[in-house]
Amino acid sequence: MSADSPSAPIVLTALTARPILDSRGYPTVEVSAVLDDGTRVRAAAPAGASTGAHEAVERRDGGEAYSGRGVDAAVAGVEREIAPALVGSAWASITEVDRALRDLDGTHDYRRLGANAVVAVSIAASRAFAHVAGLSLHTWIAAASGSSERLPVPHFNVLNGGAHAANALDFQEFMIAPVGAPDEAAAVRIGAEVYHALAALIRQRYGTAGLGDEGGFAPPVEHPRTVLDLLVEAIGDAGYRPGRDTVAIALDPAANYFYRGAGRYETGGTLRDRAQMVDFYLELFDEYPIRSLEDGFAEDDPEGWVAMATAAAGRWQLVGDDLYVTDPERIERGAAAGLSNAVLIKPNQIGTVSQTLAAIAAARDCGMSCMVSHRSGETMDTFIADLVVGTGVGQIKSGAPARGERVAKYNRLMEIERDHPELPYGLDR
Ligand code: PGA
Ligand code: ZN
Repeated sequence: MSADSPSAPIVLTALTARPILDSRGYPTVEVSAVLDDGTRVRAAAPAGASTGAHEAVERRDGGEAYSGRGVDAAVAGVEREIAPALVGSAWASITEVDRALRDLDGTHDYRRLGANAVVAVSIAASRAFAHVAGLSLHTWIAAASGSSERLPVPHFNVLNGGAHAANALDFQEFMIAPVGAPDEAAAVRIGAEVYHALAALIRQRYGTAGLGDEGGFAPPVEHPRTVLDLLVEAIGDAGYRPGRDTVAIALDPAANYFYRGAGRYETGGTLRDRAQMVDFYLELFDEYPIRSLEDGFAEDDPEGWVAMATAAAGRWQLVGDDLYVTDPERIERGAAAGLSNAVLIKPNQIGTVSQTLAAIAAARDCGMSCMVSHRSGETMDTFIADLVVGTGVGQIKSGAPARGERVAKYNRLMEIERDHPELPYGLDR
């Protein structure tokens, strides 16, 4: 079966939407669709805080309610425009549904109907196709994308800074990646045990274990090295060996946040130019078991990216998030320019499921690896867990191993593993 397979069309008899709260307490869009056999499927849109400039655009109400972040107009758009266009017809493929959504919206970034409405409809439609095909969602995604299924290495964001926390730490995410775990359940156990060991260290040293948006701790620290020392200690305290092939560390500095323009970055009170920033990262790679660096440079500083990629010479994973915004064309241009060797995949950055699969295909064609990702504002929707297994890209980040909206994804991965113990676990090397 391909994404364009005509074998199992869907017919929707109803499509409705409503505002729900996301994990930050702001509204987001949940859609609910009913199939002609009476089955109901739902989906909810996540929301970023440190968004890339070129992401698909959410529709927000403005005005006073929820500080302007209401989604009543996006919800109304689903019911008044998208539903009449989709309900009642037979749709042969997710590509066809997504093309209809794009045509109906009429803009390249979904700013009219809202990417928060469109992505939820596209995910719900994917669930409908899987149901009609008689497949689990991850297996349907594998078929639709022509991939081999694989259980991913989870990247647990255990310490938060940047736009996701109120501390003075400029780097946004410090993650634990149990690369050497034998399976998903063991990886989740390692992540949770390190998280608890880290909690104990932080309480002891800072007297507080307050949290950031993604469930990682947000102690009053300022320097990345302070955090990296804490992580190495917590991994050891939990009884594991820190190492690139055992329990590794991954960073998402989200450098847009501390980019000062003209190739200069300000972190921890120090201003560095591109070359100094590259040296700084190289020192960190040297001193700590870091395997992956996401958005180490700003989205509009390609020279910084190239300098880093040249210096890293393929030794580390360099992931573009805000840089590519899950856009197949940006990924291809970035690969040609030698910006990075990996891509972060967030469905709501590009707007639809078929465009997300196209982004993964583009990355693969360019020899780049992918990591599937949640957003800092999340819901209980677990689509990304099925997406990462179905596409077999081997890596996911979904925040801390704590808080309902984060663990929903990790728990779904463990459920898939229980149902399919034959699936391989780990990086797609
Ligand atoms: P966001 O951050 O969801 O707030 O955009 C996540 C990330 O930068 O990876
Ligand atoms: Zn990022």
